[in-house]
Amino acid sequence: MQHTFARSLSRRQWLVLAGAGTSAAAMAGVPGSRGRTQKDAYRRFSEPFRAPPVLQPTTADGDADYFDLVEEARDIQVMPGALTRIWGYNGSFPGPTISVTRNRRAVLRVHNALTAHTAVHLHGGNTDPASDGFPTDMIVAGAQREYVYANRSRAATLWYHDHAMDHTGRNVYMGLAGLYLIRDEEEAALRLPAGQNELPMILQQRRITQAGELAYQDGDRIGVGGDITLVNGVPWPLLEVAARKYRLRILNASNSTSYTVRLSSGEPLLLVGNDGGLLAAPVECAQVPLAMGERADVIVDFSALPVGSTVDLVNAANADEPESIVRCIVVRRERDDSSVPSRLSTIDVLAPQHAARTRVFAFGGKLSRAFPPVSWAINGETFDPDRPIATVRSGESEIWTFENHRIGPLGMLHPVHVHLSPFQVLRRNDGPPLPHEGGWKDTVALGKGERVDVIVRFDGFRGRYLMHCHNLEHEDHAMMARFDVL
Ligand code: C2O
Ligand code: CU
Ligand code: CU
Repeated sequence: MQHTFARSLSRRQWLVLAGAGTSAAAMAGVPGSRGRTQKDAYRRFSEPFRAPPVLQPTTADGDADYFDLVEEARDIQVMPGALTRIWGYNGSFPGPTISVTRNRRAVLRVHNALTAHTAVHLHGGNTDPASDGFPTDMIVAGAQREYVYANRSRAATLWYHDHAMDHTGRNVYMGLAGLYLIRDEEEAALRLPAGQNELPMILQQRRITQAGELAYQDGDRIGVGGDITLVNGVPWPLLEVAARKYRLRILNASNSTSYTVRLSSGEPLLLVGNDGGLLAAPVECAQVPLAMGERADVIVDFSALPVGSTVDLVNAANADEPESIVRCIVVRRERDDSSVPSRLSTIDVLAPQHAARTRVFAFGGKLSRAFPPVSWAINGETFDPDRPIATVRSGESEIWTFENHRIGPLGMLHPVHVHLSPFQVLRRNDGPPLPHEGGWKDTVALGKGERVDVIVRFDGFRGRYLMHCHNLEHEDHAMMARFDVL
């Protein structure tokens, strides 16, 4: 019967499945269901760049810092033309940055003042299972919960975000995400650009209606994008810089949009770190692809540029239509005593021959003739919080092979994220990892039809953890699995 999958899809779903991705460009040209949005009236680079606020601990004692967060709704100006109801940690969109010191505990006291249930997960954290934000461990509306983070991992760009069962996508889209930086002495000794010269950049795609509403619709399970690129909650900001080096900590916190960042000048980005902290040595990258959940820690040097010149940070995910997302304008000269040493750190390389075993995880799903058009699965199974898909031993390492199983002739990106322990990428489609995939990772892009081998060593805590696709709508629609560490 020729009732086809294709015909039951909207044009947007078709575009996405056919591989156009939920890039801003692909979305922007899609007619129907949508109407005019706040994007239409906005002039790019008219709003100044800003970093999220930094959260100060409320109290501290001998072994921990205590942070208070309230998850609350607020009406704020995201776009100049309207007020937008967001859900923010302490009303901030995105949430405040939490900065901690390695080996000093942090306690997050979270009060859920929303009408929806939530859960907080520290992405990239080596965390006790009771504090890992398992999706069924929710903070019910009105309740409070404490999360304890040991912060034993090396200095790195982590982030915290909502992880509530079935509603992570909506909760993050509404604003429940923020940066969490672990700092240590090894990193401080390098004298990378710091303080005002270290700039977080949280990239998020959003759609905001003319009335100012965040338009979240995940009924098709494909993934929710948007026609506006927000950087730290500001649409296409203008960043005033001095003619010197900056450290950019870039996080893809979008639900379902991948970016490929590069500079409009054609100069390479100097990658010094990724998900799990510093690389062994800086790597020059013409561009850095960032799937959902991935981080890039890069140095950009404006020192050769005359005052008045501009350089854009560009998203080239759609190679035919690269889009500037931040405009940097050099406004003054400045002395720069930061440095980027040619040796940054030591990576303790995990040896594949010592892996206790190999497991294969297939990220795929099934087509349906009815709406919704797909259901997602890992190894053919949908998420069951009560049943582990794998049981591993603490202290052992394993090779995990992630395979992207196309659905029929079509395919989609599935960024694979593993909780608890970072991994090292061994192979991508039988070739070497991509240039930005050295060091320690916790999320790896699995493009359509691809296969990626990683080696992971389970350490620190025992209990139940998760691996899942970081397309948040896939995650919410069961492309997630529990694994247990014994
Ligand atoms: Cu960033 Cu389990 O998530
Ligand atoms: Cu995580
Ligand atoms: Cu996916």
